Amino acid sequence: MPQRRPDIHPVLRQRWSPRSFDQQAELSNDELKSLLEAARWAPSAGNSQPWSFLLARRGDDQHRRIVRHLAPSAAAWAPAAGALIVNLCHRYVEGTDWDYSEFSVYDLGQAVAHLTIQATSMGLAVRQFRAFDKQALTTDLQVPNHWDIMTIAAVGASVAGQGAQRDRRPAHDLLWSPARKPAESEILVS
Ligand SMILES: Cc1cc2nc3c(=O)[nH]c(=O)nc-3n(C[C@H](O)[C@H](O)[C@H](O)COP(=O)(O)O)c2cc1C
Repeated sequence: MPQRRPDIHPVLRQRWSPRSFDQQAELSNDELKSLLEAARWAPSAGNSQPWSFLLARRGDDQHRRIVRHLAPSAAAWAPAAGALIVNLCHRYVEGTDWDYSEFSVYDLGQAVAHLTIQATSMGLAVRQFRAFDKQALTTDLQVPNHWDIMTIAAVGASVAGQGAQRDRRPAHDLLWSPARKPAESEILVS
């Protein structure tokens, strides 16, 4: 039995989303395989696995195609990452407007979280982003109507350390209470 400890895992603590990537660093096939493998083992509603990933390495044709559709805010940093991974979600039953799964967006998010944590554990960094022309990218990549591009993940070697500016809502604010007052829980008081 693994020992139970209350502190969060070091990999979760280390994860952050840089905007500065080493534009010389390349990702190996094994690294990319591990990232996909981590996503593959994510949980999903009814094991529906409503995700797909388009891999583009810096310098290849797919990468050039994606970079054309980045918003200026992302074009300033994302192309330097070793890979751009387009995260797609199986949104509808083909040829209909029925949900493929009520949870498809949620499940894709979990798969990308797995991928992100796996990357961190391998010394890589990920920044997910939505700053691109979704319609134009959908058309350019010939994504069928029942699939939806949700985000892109820039993956690579970060050239900066974790900055001091990251912040979060206070821990006591996470627990829901009916009156939306700070939850009076002993768990998060300290
Ligand atoms: C769904 C999603 C969309 C995001 N979109 C962008 C984006 O368009 N541009 C950007 O620079 N960062 C984007 N981010 C990164 C977040 O800004 C970042 O994760 C957040 O500020 C928390 O920082 P941390 O990941 O370092 O903890 C996005 C993250 C997620 C999960």
